[in-house]
Amino acid sequence: MIRSLKKTLLLLLFATPFVSSGQSEINTLNAETEQKISALISEMTVAEKVGQTCQITLDVFLKRDANGAVIEPIEIDSEKWEEAIGTYKVGSVLNVGSHTLSLDQWAMIMDVVHEPFKSGKTSIPIIYGIDAIHGVNYTIGGTLFPQEIGLAATWNPKLANEFGHITAYETKASGIPWNFSPVLDVARQPLWSRYFETLGEDPYLASEMGKAIICGYQGDGTDMDNTHTAACLKHFVGYSASFSGRDRTPAYIPEKYMQELFLAPFKVGIEAGAMTVMVNSGDVNGVPGHINYHLLTEVLKNEWGFNGFAVSDWEDFIMLESVHRVAESPLDAVVKGFNAGVDMSMVPTAPHYKTYCDLMNQAISEKLISTERLEDAVRRIIRVKMAVGLFEKNSGQGAQYKEFGSADYKQKALNSAVESITLLKNKGQLLPLSADKKVLIAGPTANNLVFLNGAWTHTWQGLDTSHNTAGCHTIYEAFENEIGAENCSFVEGAKLYMQDDYEACKLTNVDDFKSEAAKNDVIVLCLGELPSTEKPGDIRSLDLPKAQMELAQMAYETGKPVILVLVEARPRTLHDIVDGATAIIQTYLPGDYGGDALVKLLYGKENFSGKLPYTYPKYSGVIEFYDHPRSVARSKSNHFKAFDPEWHFGFGLSYTNFTYSDLEISQSSITTTDVLKISVLVTNSGDREGQEVVQLYISDDVASLVPAGKQLKGFEKIHLKSKESKRVEFSVSPENLKFANNSGKWILEPGSFTIAIDQLTGTFELK
Ligand code: BGC
Repeated sequence: MIRSLKKTLLLLLFATPFVSSGQSEINTLNAETEQKISALISEMTVAEKVGQTCQITLDVFLKRDANGAVIEPIEIDSEKWEEAIGTYKVGSVLNVGSHTLSLDQWAMIMDVVHEPFKSGKTSIPIIYGIDAIHGVNYTIGGTLFPQEIGLAATWNPKLANEFGHITAYETKASGIPWNFSPVLDVARQPLWSRYFETLGEDPYLASEMGKAIICGYQGDGTDMDNTHTAACLKHFVGYSASFSGRDRTPAYIPEKYMQELFLAPFKVGIEAGAMTVMVNSGDVNGVPGHINYHLLTEVLKNEWGFNGFAVSDWEDFIMLESVHRVAESPLDAVVKGFNAGVDMSMVPTAPHYKTYCDLMNQAISEKLISTERLEDAVRRIIRVKMAVGLFEKNSGQGAQYKEFGSADYKQKALNSAVESITLLKNKGQLLPLSADKKVLIAGPTANNLVFLNGAWTHTWQGLDTSHNTAGCHTIYEAFENEIGAENCSFVEGAKLYMQDDYEACKLTNVDDFKSEAAKNDVIVLCLGELPSTEKPGDIRSLDLPKAQMELAQMAYETGKPVILVLVEARPRTLHDIVDGATAIIQTYLPGDYGGDALVKLLYGKENFSGKLPYTYPKYSGVIEFYDHPRSVARSKSNHFKAFDPEWHFGFGLSYTNFTYSDLEISQSSITTTDVLKISVLVTNSGDREGQEVVQLYISDDVASLVPAGKQLKGFEKIHLKSKESKRVEFSVSPENLKFANNSGKWILEPGSFTIAIDQLTGTFELK
């Protein structure tokens, strides 16, 4: 049901220097504001309070033709709007119609949305939310960055912060004060269709990058000016660990790992001041996210002190009855979800939203939901509405946002793509390419922007090519610009297409491919997958489609050097074609400027500095993570060698070399109140400047529960000129050495710990 409806819509080491204190108006309650909220609530009817908890999609009040299709260009159906506002007192709207809109269209929508508050018909303004997950992807002319997985590969919180700031600015330019982002689900299931929406497999990397994005969205939180939006942490919690790999299917997460892997980034996000969270659509250990009282109320709100609000995911109250089967009736579902701690329900279509409001009113009158609980939710919602400035500044005024889509913003998106793209292999130093070589650009992902952007771009699945950003270049076009059309050619060779699902791929114009290959010096083969997300993105195997493997073999048979360029939402296994390639590059989903960024890197105008934010599997049947217990690699024999990924977490080559030396540990033993300083000297021993990500790993040598073999506890991206050296220092406090036990309690055990930075190791003792 969700699909058919949506088809039409589309442990903290040290604070990174640029980030604010991480406070927000939501973190520190202000007595005066709380009194104002109390006064507002005291004047509200039950129906008005209920309406505040209801979120509908824009499509509900767009005019439709005789066939029920939304009229283009969009027009507001005032009768339906009046019903939503006048009768049902709806407090929130989300999303777009079928595709991306202009700033003027957004301004028109915002005029309608804010009219009831401006004219005094309602005492509480409406909050509009959208998935601007890699830039303002539903506004024409907005700046599109790499998807989160690519941002994570930059290992550069400063860039993540810039991304957040620019995205917030352009979202606000569209009149929208609330962004359903960032995704802080940790990527532990590579089959999952939303892998690319995450910040990778490691909770520390995800926490640091996530914090930077949140601070970019919300600013320093002391004043939500006209250039910032509220963040929404998704999807609380455990969504990314589905056992089957299929979207919105059950996860089984022991308490230890719930704490260490999945809750950890959310806790950091809440501490950074995130104003809202969105709830996990799946179920964990048999409990759907939307009825998980323990997580939503006891942990998030009571233990962590979250003062903002929790919004449901799409239709998830309905799903409690129709899919999860934990509610006997729609009423039971609403009661269970709301009482568990979900404050706002993304119902979001008609007539369901009306049913939701009716059921909520019934639940209040029958005391199935207490007035206190209802008012708690409404207070939280009004708090956020006040914090984002809706009570004062509530309309979209595109014209005043002079930086919208500016050259500076585009340059920053390009820089992010450059810093994300990761060099995985470079045999015989084929790269950088020399400009006098003739190049055949081939493969299914080489010549359309949709492949670079992925889903949530202009449309939900990101497949409609008619909305591609004018003036941005595909990989092939970027080559044409760099070396001239006469020095490169394009043949697709294999086609990705939609047929029942998003997995179809077949060979095409193979003869042309072979004859063009013979005429050129180098083959750049762009492989990958069709844009997709959520259920449509479910796949049956992690293997790269067979036709693409065959195309690569054909390319190798030509005897020409082949550069494999991966444009993919998740790490598709490709072991059989790794050896034959001269170079391999992971672009992730690099966004509108990904083609330009790749070509700059290939011709050495920029240096590679991206590092994998995940473990790249070698075989589709063996999925492992870098922080596995030592028992995973217990056998020394090759055949039984269990930990054997294609490429390691944190791996990525450069055109220069970095040498690590002189590891210093401030103390050989620390007490529970000490802070240990660890430093290392990093030298650029190569011939050209470059950036290196210095990664600090720590392992607990012996613990009462099997310890991780190593865990990332710090990183810093540094820039070094040729022959330049820099000492990089990390601080580690005992807090960072804790682990969660099987009851989810964080404990600290004395004993020895091993430190590893690159190939250097050292030890220290915790007394
Ligand atoms: C997705 C959310 C998204 C929401 C609104 C849901 O289907 O799971 O991540 O924010 O739709 O578009």
